[in-house]
Amino acid sequence: MKLLVTGGAGFIGSNFIHYWLKNNPQDFIVNLDKLTYAGNLENLKKIKDNPNCRFVKGDICDGKLVDEVMDGIDIVVHFAAESHVDRSIKSPSIFIKTNIIGTQVLLEGALKRKVKRFHHISTDEVFGSLNLDDLSKFDERTPYNPRSPYSASKAGSDHLVMSYFYTYGLPVTISNCSNNFGPFQYPEKLIPLAITNILEGKTIPIYGDGLYVRDWLYVEDHCRAIDLILSSGKIGETYCVGGLTEDISNLDVITKILEIMGKNKDCLEFVKDRMGHDRKYAINWSKIKQELGFIPEHDFTHWLEQTVKWYEENETWWKRLKQDEFSNYYKEQYNDL
Ligand code: NAD
Ligand code: TYD
Repeated sequence: MKLLVTGGAGFIGSNFIHYWLKNNPQDFIVNLDKLTYAGNLENLKKIKDNPNCRFVKGDICDGKLVDEVMDGIDIVVHFAAESHVDRSIKSPSIFIKTNIIGTQVLLEGALKRKVKRFHHISTDEVFGSLNLDDLSKFDERTPYNPRSPYSASKAGSDHLVMSYFYTYGLPVTISNCSNNFGPFQYPEKLIPLAITNILEGKTIPIYGDGLYVRDWLYVEDHCRAIDLILSSGKIGETYCVGGLTEDISNLDVITKILEIMGKNKDCLEFVKDRMGHDRKYAINWSKIKQELGFIPEHDFTHWLEQTVKWYEENETWWKRLKQDEFSNYYKEQYNDL
């Protein structure tokens, strides 16, 4: 089997490549990645000499290149995207270009080359925001109601993917997953930001009252979910993927991290809230559980402990990232915190 993985030098894409080659060593992967600030070939260091993985530096918006790399591909797993909500608030245009136009270019290439499956990685953020006292959860039938430039661009890409299924019969599947965490996550996101700030003796910026709720999915569980969808998912269907069954606020998450790292709450710093901050995401992942047998391998605390351990053991990886582009971003985003 020959796979095209887009965005394979990013957080989830690189974890997926490691996962896939470990479980399917006979398969061949082409990794198409533009290497934006979020793309990092260090994430793939362990497999750099693996003859079954070819890296192509390039943009998913480049139709000619996409046509070339699509040649002979059986399965496309599309991760490439601009992925950070805060950046989408500051600079929305690149989100529209990469997430919407880039996805359409890939769909066109996949159609022309008659790929057997186009799997699109999306987010639960397309469903909008719940109230804190809401008992309902997002599921595959929830109407789309995106509220940030990031989620609007992902919603647009999801609609395009489904349109290629209904109009042209392209064999697609979509997964809408919750917030991922784990190794190789760029330190702009809450969990790696908190862990690495603690390791550097810095404070942890908490937006607003910190009572915002997210569902958390360990990245390796997510990779297994994608694997299940590729092997047994139904063409033309969407699968919601989550990791929790109860609500956990951002403050709860940070408190757990502080406990794991033996720190007290002195290092919390409440900062100005994100514009249009979605209050709560909660996801009902019973479809993928019942139909495909998906279940997270461990509970949240176990995976959080593993994640803290990974960042403690991989200081060189994140320290280099925090010196580069990130330090300017951090100063601007957090007003020299
Ligand atoms: P990431 O930001 O860590 O990585 C994105 C990767 O895409 C990078 O390697 C980057 O270089 C590459 N890329 C960006 N623009 C590109 C372009 N125009 N052409 C080619 N490559 C390009 O993102 P991530 O957290 O790994 O997310 C992967 C996917 O999962 C995204 O589609 C995101 O929307 C989705 N998702 C992420 C989360 C999460 O919690 N991280 C949750 C739900 C869904
Ligand atoms: P984030 O990791 O950016 O993911 P998303 O916005 O896609 O859910 O943020 C997770 C939650 O943490 C979200 O409610 C925003 C909040 N947050 C903070 O409180 N402080 C921070 O510095 C960051 C980056 C996020």
